[in-house]
Amino acid sequence: ARKIIIDTDPGQDDAVAILLAMASPELDLLGLTCVAGNVPLALTAKNARIICELVNRTDVPVYAGCDTPIARKLVTAEHVHGKTGLDGPTLPDPVMPVQEQHAVDFIIDTLRAAPAGTVTLCPLGPLTNIATAFDRAPDIVDRVQEIVLMGGAYFEVGNITPAAEFNIFVDPEAAKAVFAAGVPLVVLPLDVTHKALTTQPRVDAFRNLGTPVGQAVAEWTGFFERFDKEKYGSAGAPLHDPCVIAYLLQPDLFSGRHINVEIETASDLTLGMTVADWWRVTDRTPNALFIGDVDADGFFAMLTDRLAQL
Ligand code: BDR
Ligand code: CA
Repeated sequence: ARKIIIDTDPGQDDAVAILLAMASPELDLLGLTCVAGNVPLALTAKNARIICELVNRTDVPVYAGCDTPIARKLVTAEHVHGKTGLDGPTLPDPVMPVQEQHAVDFIIDTLRAAPAGTVTLCPLGPLTNIATAFDRAPDIVDRVQEIVLMGGAYFEVGNITPAAEFNIFVDPEAAKAVFAAGVPLVVLPLDVTHKALTTQPRVDAFRNLGTPVGQAVAEWTGFFERFDKEKYGSAGAPLHDPCVIAYLLQPDLFSGRHINVEIETASDLTLGMTVADWWRVTDRTPNALFIGDVDADGFFAMLTDRLAQL
């Protein structure tokens, strides 16, 4: 199975992504590394454990990482995810512990211990932990198999400012470092995640699984939907982060372009913008596979099918 580390700030959509990974025997989930993002670190580290306990996967270690972006004050998204970051169903407080080791040290040690090119990083939140690990241990950069992340936007521009997507906006310096690291990089931006929309039948399919997981996922997405419905008038909620795991499982559901993507860190107006050379109008070297499209029906069919295994 392919070894992955999920770096995350749960988040209802992070939760669904984590469950999808846990439901997939092709993936070997080495650990969950938490970062401040949708809500502060104490809550993301708590939410990650709530998710593990929901499916009795207390064997998956949960690490707490960076509690603030590299050079800026933390911006959170309670307006989207609720006060806890995981509003929706009422789930018990976790009993399993957070690991004592810092998430950044876990990432460094894991990459050093595994054969080079065998560990994939899956960032679902701001890139603070990943950039900090690369900065502290430059020797691990070449050992990463691939980074497959949710972040950025091009045609869909922004969801936290007119120009920027949340994960990149929260820690643009970290994003800049990760995009410049030279690691094989796959980017799932809003352009694709806004096509992976929940609809009533899709949410009903989760609920109709008739399991605690199906019920929780239906309630999470139900909560998450209200923001996008009110804000964008969209039909449902974009399942951003599960696109990362779905890409690992079934890349043929997705299509994109191998292009240059640079991160804006200077301008206040466009801070955190992913400047994607979609039309290749510069000669800047391509550094990312920037995904633009998804077979949404195929994505939801797979997701529902997998969640049924839990
Ligand atoms: C991203 O920001 C968070 O709110 C979601 O969990 C997702 O990772 C979407 O912009
Ligand atoms: Ca997230």
